[in-house]
Amino acid sequence: MSVTILGIESSCDDTSAAVIRDGILLSNVIASQKVHEEYGGVVPELASRAHQQNIVPVVDTAIKRAGIAPSDISAIAFTRGPGLLGSLLVGTSFAKGMAIGLGCPIVDVNHLHGHVLSHFIRREVSDTIPGFPYLCLLISGGNSQLILVRSPRDMQVLGQTIDDAAGEAFDKCAKVMGLPYPGGPHIDRLAAEGDSKRFKFAKPHIPGLDYSFSGLKTSFLYTLRDNVKVDPEFIDKNKADLAASLQETIIAILLDKLDKAVKQTGVTTIAIGGGVSANSGVRSAISDYCSKHGLTPFIPERAFTTDNAAMVAIAGYFKYLDGDFCEMDAAPYARVTV
Ligand code: KG4
Repeated sequence: MSVTILGIESSCDDTSAAVIRDGILLSNVIASQKVHEEYGGVVPELASRAHQQNIVPVVDTAIKRAGIAPSDISAIAFTRGPGLLGSLLVGTSFAKGMAIGLGCPIVDVNHLHGHVLSHFIRREVSDTIPGFPYLCLLISGGNSQLILVRSPRDMQVLGQTIDDAAGEAFDKCAKVMGLPYPGGPHIDRLAAEGDSKRFKFAKPHIPGLDYSFSGLKTSFLYTLRDNVKVDPEFIDKNKADLAASLQETIIAILLDKLDKAVKQTGVTTIAIGGGVSANSGVRSAISDYCSKHGLTPFIPERAFTTDNAAMVAIAGYFKYLDGDFCEMDAAPYARVTV
Protein backbone atom coordinates (compact mmCIF):
# COMPACT_ATOMS: atom_id res chain seq x y z
CA MET A 1 0.00 0.00 0.00
CA SER A 2 1.30 3.46 -0.77
CA VAL A 3 2.32 5.89 1.95
CA THR A 4 1.08 9.47 1.60
CA ILE A 5 2.54 12.11 3.90
CA LEU A 6 1.25 15.65 4.33
CA GLY A 7 4.10 17.87 5.53
CA ILE A 8 3.60 21.17 7.34
CA GLU A 9 6.34 23.76 7.91
CA SER A 10 5.82 26.91 9.99
CA SER A 11 9.08 27.40 11.90
CA CYS A 12 9.86 30.96 10.82
CA ASP A 13 8.24 33.22 8.24
CA ASP A 14 7.16 30.79 5.51
CA THR A 15 3.92 28.83 5.76
CA SER A 16 4.31 25.70 3.67
CA ALA A 17 2.48 22.42 3.02
CA ALA A 18 3.54 19.54 0.78
CA VAL A 19 2.37 16.08 -0.17
CA ILE A 20 4.78 13.21 -0.77
CA ARG A 21 3.63 9.75 -1.88
CA ASP A 22 6.14 6.89 -1.58
CA GLY A 23 8.96 9.42 -1.63
CA ILE A 24 7.70 11.23 -4.75
CA LEU A 25 6.72 14.89 -4.44
CA LEU A 26 3.13 15.59 -5.51
CA SER A 27 2.87 19.21 -4.34
CA ASN A 28 4.81 21.85 -2.41
CA VAL A 29 3.07 25.15 -1.63
CA ILE A 30 4.86 28.05 0.09
CA ALA A 31 3.31 31.32 1.26
CA SER A 32 6.07 33.79 2.13
CA GLN A 33 5.27 36.60 4.54
CA LYS A 34 5.92 40.07 3.15
CA VAL A 35 4.83 41.78 6.37
CA HIS A 36 8.38 41.67 7.84
CA GLU A 37 10.15 43.54 5.04
CA GLU A 38 9.68 47.00 6.49
CA TYR A 39 11.18 45.90 9.85
CA GLY A 40 14.49 44.54 8.48
CA GLY A 41 13.93 41.13 10.11
CA VAL A 42 11.24 38.67 11.16
CA VAL A 43 8.84 39.97 13.83
CA PRO A 44 7.75 36.81 15.74
CA GLU A 45 4.24 37.93 16.70
CA LEU A 46 3.46 39.05 13.14
CA ALA A 47 4.82 35.74 11.83
CA SER A 48 2.46 33.71 14.08
CA ARG A 49 -0.54 35.75 12.97
CA ALA A 50 0.35 35.41 9.30
CA HIS A 51 0.75 31.62 9.75
CA GLN A 52 -2.76 31.49 11.22
CA GLN A 53 -4.12 33.28 8.17
CA ASN A 54 -2.15 31.20 5.67
CA ILE A 55 -2.28 27.69 7.02
CA VAL A 56 -5.77 26.64 5.91
CA PRO A 57 -5.48 27.86 2.28
CA VAL A 58 -1.88 26.57 1.99
CA VAL A 59 -2.77 23.04 3.19
CA ASP A 60 -5.94 23.03 1.10
CA THR A 61 -3.98 24.04 -2.03
CA ALA A 62 -1.27 21.43 -1.39
CA ILE A 63 -3.89 18.67 -1.13
CA LYS A 64 -5.70 19.84 -4.27
CA ARG A 65 -2.51 20.24 -6.32
CA ALA A 66 -1.42 16.76 -5.27
CA GLY A 67 -4.68 15.41 -6.63
CA ILE A 68 -5.38 13.38 -3.50
CA ALA A 69 -8.31 13.20 -1.09
CA PRO A 70 -7.69 14.06 2.59
CA SER A 71 -8.64 10.47 3.45
CA ASP A 72 -5.59 9.24 1.44
CA ILE A 73 -3.21 10.83 3.98
CA SER A 74 -1.30 8.17 5.96
CA ALA A 75 0.24 10.63 8.45
CA ILE A 76 0.83 14.34 8.98
CA ALA A 77 4.44 15.41 9.49
CA PHE A 78 5.06 18.81 11.07
CA THR A 79 8.09 20.87 12.08
CA ARG A 80 8.33 20.67 15.87
CA GLY A 81 11.48 22.80 16.13
CA PRO A 82 13.81 24.60 16.13
CA GLY A 83 12.24 27.93 15.29
CA LEU A 84 9.98 30.65 16.64
CA LEU A 85 7.70 29.16 19.28
CA GLY A 86 4.56 31.06 18.25
CA SER A 87 5.07 30.10 14.60
CA LEU A 88 5.76 26.45 15.45
CA LEU A 89 2.66 26.35 17.62
CA VAL A 90 0.45 27.16 14.63
CA GLY A 91 1.77 24.25 12.54
CA THR A 92 1.88 21.84 15.50
CA SER A 93 -1.70 22.61 16.57
CA PHE A 94 -2.99 22.46 13.02
CA ALA A 95 -1.32 19.09 12.40
CA LYS A 96 -2.84 17.66 15.59
CA GLY A 97 -6.33 18.97 14.86
CA MET A 98 -6.31 17.73 11.28
CA ALA A 99 -4.91 14.32 12.31
CA ILE A 100 -7.66 13.90 14.91
CA GLY A 101 -10.22 14.79 12.24
CA LEU A 102 -8.74 12.28 9.76
CA GLY A 103 -7.93 9.61 12.34
CA CYS A 104 -4.28 9.41 11.21
CA PRO A 105 -1.00 9.59 13.19
CA ILE A 106 1.32 12.60 13.43
CA VAL A 107 5.10 12.61 12.98
CA ASP A 108 7.27 15.33 14.50
CA VAL A 109 10.22 16.55 12.42
CA ASN A 110 13.39 18.35 13.46
CA HIS A 111 13.60 21.18 10.91
CA LEU A 112 17.36 20.62 10.52
CA HIS A 113 16.81 16.94 9.64
CA GLY A 114 14.47 18.22 6.94
CA HIS A 115 17.27 20.30 5.38
CA VAL A 116 19.73 17.39 5.62
CA LEU A 117 17.26 14.92 4.06
CA SER A 118 15.96 17.31 1.38
CA HIS A 119 18.13 15.44 -1.16
CA PHE A 120 15.73 12.50 -0.95
CA ILE A 121 12.82 14.55 -2.35
CA ARG A 122 12.24 13.09 -5.79
CA ARG A 123 10.03 14.40 -8.56
CA GLU A 124 10.48 11.19 -10.57
CA VAL A 125 11.32 7.66 -9.44
CA SER A 126 14.46 7.87 -11.60
CA ASP A 127 15.85 10.96 -9.74
CA THR A 128 19.23 10.30 -8.09
CA ILE A 129 19.45 10.33 -4.30
CA PRO A 130 22.57 10.18 -2.13
CA GLY A 131 23.96 6.94 -0.76
CA PHE A 132 25.05 6.70 2.88
CA PRO A 133 27.21 7.92 4.43
CA TYR A 134 27.37 11.49 3.15
CA LEU A 135 28.68 14.75 4.51
CA CYS A 136 26.11 17.54 4.67
CA LEU A 137 27.10 21.17 4.89
CA LEU A 138 24.00 22.73 6.46
CA ILE A 139 24.17 26.48 5.97
CA SER A 140 21.22 28.68 6.85
CA GLY A 141 20.31 31.89 8.63
CA GLY A 142 20.48 30.15 12.01
CA ASN A 143 22.95 27.29 11.52
CA SER A 144 26.28 26.37 9.99
CA GLN A 145 27.00 22.71 10.62
CA LEU A 146 29.04 19.91 9.10
CA ILE A 147 27.07 16.72 9.57
CA LEU A 148 28.04 13.11 8.94
CA VAL A 149 24.82 11.41 7.80
CA ARG A 150 24.98 7.62 8.22
CA SER A 151 21.22 7.05 7.79
CA PRO A 152 18.02 9.13 8.10
CA ARG A 153 18.18 8.37 11.84
CA ASP A 154 21.90 8.55 12.44
CA MET A 155 23.43 12.01 12.06
CA GLN A 156 26.56 13.26 13.79
CA VAL A 157 27.49 16.93 13.98
CA LEU A 158 31.23 17.08 13.26
CA GLY A 159 31.50 20.85 13.54
CA GLN A 160 29.34 23.93 13.85
CA THR A 161 29.55 27.67 14.23
CA ILE A 162 30.62 29.01 17.58
CA ASP A 163 29.00 32.40 16.90
CA ASP A 164 27.20 33.69 13.78
CA ALA A 165 25.82 31.43 11.06
CA ALA A 166 26.92 31.83 7.42
CA GLY A 167 23.53 33.35 6.57
CA GLU A 168 23.94 35.89 9.38
CA ALA A 169 27.32 36.89 7.95
CA PHE A 170 25.62 37.57 4.60
CA ASP A 171 22.65 39.36 6.19
CA LYS A 172 24.56 41.50 8.71
CA CYS A 173 27.16 42.69 6.17
CA ALA A 174 24.36 43.38 3.69
CA LYS A 175 22.62 45.48 6.34
CA VAL A 176 25.76 47.60 6.78
CA MET A 177 25.66 48.16 3.02
CA GLY A 178 22.06 49.34 3.28
CA LEU A 179 20.62 46.34 1.40
CA PRO A 180 17.13 45.00 2.26
CA TYR A 181 16.58 42.00 4.57
CA PRO A 182 17.45 39.19 4.04
CA GLY A 183 20.64 40.41 2.41
CA GLY A 184 22.02 37.04 1.22
CA PRO A 185 20.25 37.00 -2.15
CA HIS A 186 21.22 40.67 -2.76
CA ILE A 187 24.90 39.94 -2.10
CA ASP A 188 24.61 36.96 -4.45
CA ARG A 189 23.18 39.17 -7.22
CA LEU A 190 25.74 41.97 -6.75
CA ALA A 191 28.69 39.57 -6.43
CA ALA A 192 28.11 38.32 -9.99
CA GLU A 193 29.36 41.69 -11.30
CA GLY A 194 32.13 42.36 -8.78
CA ASP A 195 35.85 41.76 -8.40
CA SER A 196 36.24 39.24 -5.58
CA LYS A 197 39.97 40.05 -5.14
CA ARG A 198 39.41 43.76 -4.50
CA PHE A 199 38.90 43.62 -0.71
CA LYS A 200 40.51 41.29 1.85
CA PHE A 201 38.54 40.31 4.94
CA ALA A 202 39.68 38.40 8.02
CA LYS A 203 39.37 34.62 8.04
CA PRO A 204 38.99 32.79 11.36
CA HIS A 205 41.55 30.41 12.87
CA ILE A 206 39.32 28.05 14.81
CA PRO A 207 40.63 24.58 15.65
CA GLY A 208 38.87 21.41 14.47
CA LEU A 209 35.79 21.49 12.29
CA ASP A 210 33.96 24.37 13.96
CA TYR A 211 33.10 27.59 12.16
CA SER A 212 33.17 31.23 13.15
CA PHE A 213 31.79 34.17 11.18
CA SER A 214 31.67 37.02 13.65
CA GLY A 215 35.26 38.16 12.97
CA LEU A 216 34.52 38.43 9.27
CA LYS A 217 31.55 40.68 10.04
CA THR A 218 33.72 42.95 12.19
CA SER A 219 36.48 43.01 9.58
CA PHE A 220 33.92 43.92 6.91
CA LEU A 221 32.69 46.82 8.98
CA TYR A 222 36.23 48.04 9.73
CA THR A 223 37.19 47.88 6.07
CA LEU A 224 34.42 50.32 5.35
CA ARG A 225 35.32 52.50 8.31
CA ASP A 226 39.06 52.60 7.57
CA ASN A 227 38.43 53.61 4.03
CA VAL A 228 35.65 56.05 4.35
CA LYS A 229 33.85 56.02 7.71
CA VAL A 230 30.93 54.05 6.26
CA ASP A 231 30.35 56.53 3.50
CA PRO A 232 27.18 55.54 1.63
CA GLU A 233 28.64 56.93 -1.60
CA PHE A 234 31.74 54.71 -1.30
CA ILE A 235 29.56 51.69 -0.57
CA ASP A 236 27.37 52.49 -3.54
CA LYS A 237 30.35 52.85 -5.89
CA ASN A 238 32.00 49.64 -4.65
CA LYS A 239 29.01 47.51 -3.78
CA ALA A 240 29.64 44.82 -6.39
CA ASP A 241 33.31 44.42 -5.35
CA LEU A 242 32.38 44.44 -1.66
CA ALA A 243 29.71 41.78 -2.26
CA ALA A 244 32.00 39.61 -4.42
CA SER A 245 34.88 39.81 -1.91
CA LEU A 246 32.55 39.02 1.01
CA GLN A 247 30.98 36.08 -0.79
CA GLU A 248 34.36 34.66 -1.75
CA THR A 249 35.60 34.90 1.85
CA ILE A 250 32.51 33.11 3.19
CA ILE A 251 32.94 30.36 0.58
CA ALA A 252 36.63 29.98 1.46
CA ILE A 253 35.76 29.59 5.16
CA LEU A 254 33.06 27.00 4.37
CA LEU A 255 35.30 24.99 2.03
CA ASP A 256 38.29 25.00 4.37
CA LYS A 257 36.42 22.99 7.05
CA LEU A 258 34.56 20.87 4.51
CA ASP A 259 37.90 19.83 3.05
CA LYS A 260 39.19 18.93 6.54
CA ALA A 261 36.04 16.86 7.18
CA VAL A 262 36.44 15.03 3.85
CA LYS A 263 40.06 14.18 4.67
CA GLN A 264 39.17 13.15 8.22
CA THR A 265 36.22 10.89 7.32
CA GLY A 266 37.08 9.68 3.83
CA VAL A 267 33.43 10.20 2.85
CA THR A 268 33.00 10.73 -0.90
CA THR A 269 29.46 12.11 -1.17
CA ILE A 270 28.91 15.78 -0.33
CA ALA A 271 25.55 17.49 0.10
CA ILE A 272 24.65 21.07 0.92
CA GLY A 273 21.41 22.39 2.38
CA GLY A 274 19.76 25.41 3.99
CA GLY A 275 19.09 28.92 2.68
CA VAL A 276 22.73 29.78 1.92
CA SER A 277 22.98 26.73 -0.36
CA ALA A 278 20.88 28.80 -2.81
CA ASN A 279 23.94 31.04 -3.28
CA SER A 280 25.32 30.82 -6.84
CA GLY A 281 28.94 31.12 -5.69
CA VAL A 282 28.53 28.42 -3.02
CA ARG A 283 26.86 26.09 -5.52
CA SER A 284 29.57 26.40 -8.14
CA ALA A 285 32.38 26.26 -5.55
CA ILE A 286 30.99 22.95 -4.19
CA SER A 287 30.65 21.52 -7.73
CA ASP A 288 34.21 22.58 -8.60
CA TYR A 289 35.60 21.23 -5.32
CA CYS A 290 33.88 17.88 -5.86
CA SER A 291 34.99 17.47 -9.46
CA LYS A 292 38.56 18.37 -8.51
CA HIS A 293 38.62 15.74 -5.75
CA GLY A 294 36.53 13.01 -7.44
CA LEU A 295 33.60 13.42 -5.02
CA THR A 296 29.87 13.26 -5.76
CA PRO A 297 28.00 16.51 -5.05
CA PHE A 298 24.31 16.83 -4.16
CA ILE A 299 23.11 20.38 -4.67
CA PRO A 300 19.42 20.90 -3.91
CA GLU A 301 16.92 22.54 -6.20
CA ARG A 302 16.66 26.18 -5.13
CA ALA A 303 13.03 25.58 -4.05
CA PHE A 304 14.28 23.10 -1.43
CA THR A 305 17.07 25.28 0.01
CA THR A 306 14.93 27.72 1.99
CA ASP A 307 12.14 26.66 4.34
CA ASN A 308 9.68 24.31 2.64
CA ALA A 309 7.31 21.54 3.67
CA ALA A 310 8.59 19.05 1.06
CA MET A 311 11.66 18.44 3.22
CA VAL A 312 9.45 18.05 6.31
CA ALA A 313 7.31 15.52 4.45
CA ILE A 314 10.33 13.47 3.31
CA ALA A 315 11.86 13.46 6.81
CA GLY A 316 8.42 12.46 8.14
CA TYR A 317 8.19 9.72 5.51
CA PHE A 318 11.36 8.06 6.84
CA LYS A 319 10.04 8.24 10.41
CA TYR A 320 6.69 6.84 9.27
CA LEU A 321 8.42 3.84 7.71
CA ASP A 322 10.09 3.26 11.09
CA GLY A 323 6.74 3.52 12.90
CA ASP A 324 8.19 6.49 14.80
CA PHE A 325 5.05 8.48 15.59
CA CYS A 326 4.54 11.37 17.97
CA GLU A 327 2.16 11.75 20.93
CA MET A 328 -0.74 14.17 20.67
CA ASP A 329 0.55 16.18 23.65
CA ALA A 330 3.88 16.99 21.91
CA ALA A 331 4.88 20.64 22.41
CA PRO A 332 7.09 22.54 19.95
CA TYR A 333 10.67 23.38 20.90
CA ALA A 334 12.54 26.59 20.05
CA ARG A 335 16.08 25.17 20.13
CA VAL A 336 17.72 21.89 19.19
CA THR A 337 20.73 20.70 17.24
CA VAL A 338 20.78 17.86 14.70
O1 KG4 B 1 17.32 28.08 5.68
P1 KG4 B 1 16.78 29.45 5.70
O2 KG4 B 1 15.69 29.77 4.72
O3 KG4 B 1 16.17 29.82 7.08
C1 KG4 B 1 16.67 30.10 8.32
O4 KG4 B 1 17.79 29.75 8.70
O5 KG4 B 1 15.84 30.71 9.02
O6 KG4 B 1 18.00 30.45 5.47
C2 KG4 B 1 17.85 31.82 5.37
C3 KG4 B 1 19.21 32.41 5.07
C4 KG4 B 1 19.26 33.93 5.16
O7 KG4 B 1 20.38 34.29 5.93
C5 KG4 B 1 19.42 34.36 3.70
O8 KG4 B 1 20.12 35.56 3.52
C6 KG4 B 1 20.21 33.19 3.14
O9 KG4 B 1 19.62 32.05 3.74
N1 KG4 B 1 20.13 33.11 1.70
C7 KG4 B 1 21.18 33.36 0.88
C8 KG4 B 1 20.70 33.24 -0.45
N2 KG4 B 1 19.37 32.89 -0.39
C9 KG4 B 1 19.04 32.84 0.94
N3 KG4 B 1 22.44 33.68 1.17
C10 KG4 B 1 23.28 33.88 0.13
N4 KG4 B 1 22.90 33.78 -1.15
C11 KG4 B 1 21.64 33.47 -1.50
N5 KG4 B 1 21.27 33.36 -2.78
